[in-house]
Amino acid sequence: MVIWQNGEFVTWEKATVHVLTHALHYGSAIFEGIRAYRTKNGGTSIFRLDAHLQRLFNSAKIHMLDVPWTAGELSTACQDLLRLNKLNEAYLRPIIYIAAAETPTQGKKTNRLSVDPTGLPIHAAIGAWKWEDYLGTSHKEPHHMVGTDKGVKTIVSSWQRIDSNTLPPAAKTAGNYVNSVFAQREARLANAHEAILLNKAGMVTDGSGENIFVVKNGKLLTPPLSAGCLEGVTRDSLLTLARDLSIPTAEPDLPRTDLYTADEAFFSGTAVEMAPIASVDGRTLHAPGPIFEKLRKALNTVIRGETTDYAEWRYPV
Ligand SMILES: Cc1ncc(COP(=O)(O)O)c(C=O)c1O
Repeated sequence: MVIWQNGEFVTWEKATVHVLTHALHYGSAIFEGIRAYRTKNGGTSIFRLDAHLQRLFNSAKIHMLDVPWTAGELSTACQDLLRLNKLNEAYLRPIIYIAAAETPTQGKKTNRLSVDPTGLPIHAAIGAWKWEDYLGTSHKEPHHMVGTDKGVKTIVSSWQRIDSNTLPPAAKTAGNYVNSVFAQREARLANAHEAILLNKAGMVTDGSGENIFVVKNGKLLTPPLSAGCLEGVTRDSLLTLARDLSIPTAEPDLPRTDLYTADEAFFSGTAVEMAPIASVDGRTLHAPGPIFEKLRKALNTVIRGETTDYAEWRYPV
């Protein structure tokens, strides 16, 4: 396996960071999760690469990181990486991080690590691998349909979602994910697959690594970005596809009880793709439900290039 690091392709063993890397100590890295899929014509396409790179550069702007690569360079690196690793389906993980540096002081070199990142170098890496069973419920075949129809068991986490005035969820920052790791661990301890986080007003945000959708009376609902969920690329794709299918959509604040009484609910995200929710805190839901099935089929059709619609969402490798 080769990894792209700072403009070069290196072997897995050589793709390392220094132990005094700022990002390792303070979580100061931003990243993306992107998927590449086999398409109907036998080729491979990266799904919505531009939207992911746009979010990466937005994260960089929020963190005041000067990324020394352009979106075009990172996009080429993603495509080359898949070709070099001979991957026709993959999950891609670009990361931009504040690195380590020494500084000359009174004729000697001393370490520069402190909270203040001023002047520290910005490094980047991209890894790619096959990742098919995100929540441990999947049953993937070659040419499988995206996502899974196996329902996932969830809990509402006792950990609150980070807030936009503490760690802004709009940026996909490594440090933010400590919040998700806490919630995900809590779910596993409760023998559930995934946790759902509420914001400080008690409203639903998202899963530890997925957006959430709820269906009520034929309407597709998902929390607004102002609730503190990540602006998911899959979320946006599904809202777009739902409108095309004449499924009414809305983005209201959702209290946790709307999860318990939903006609159906499901997760969406690059890693999970789509997964129906079978239960929330022991309340059983209909999984997979009909709206989930309809949207999953529509997403699969677009991702696999079985339609000319949304051709601009597919970046051929
Ligand atoms: C907290 C969180 N919410 C939602 C998502 C889904 O976003 P996307 O569909 O862009 O992968 C992710 C995954 O990146 C995530 O980590």
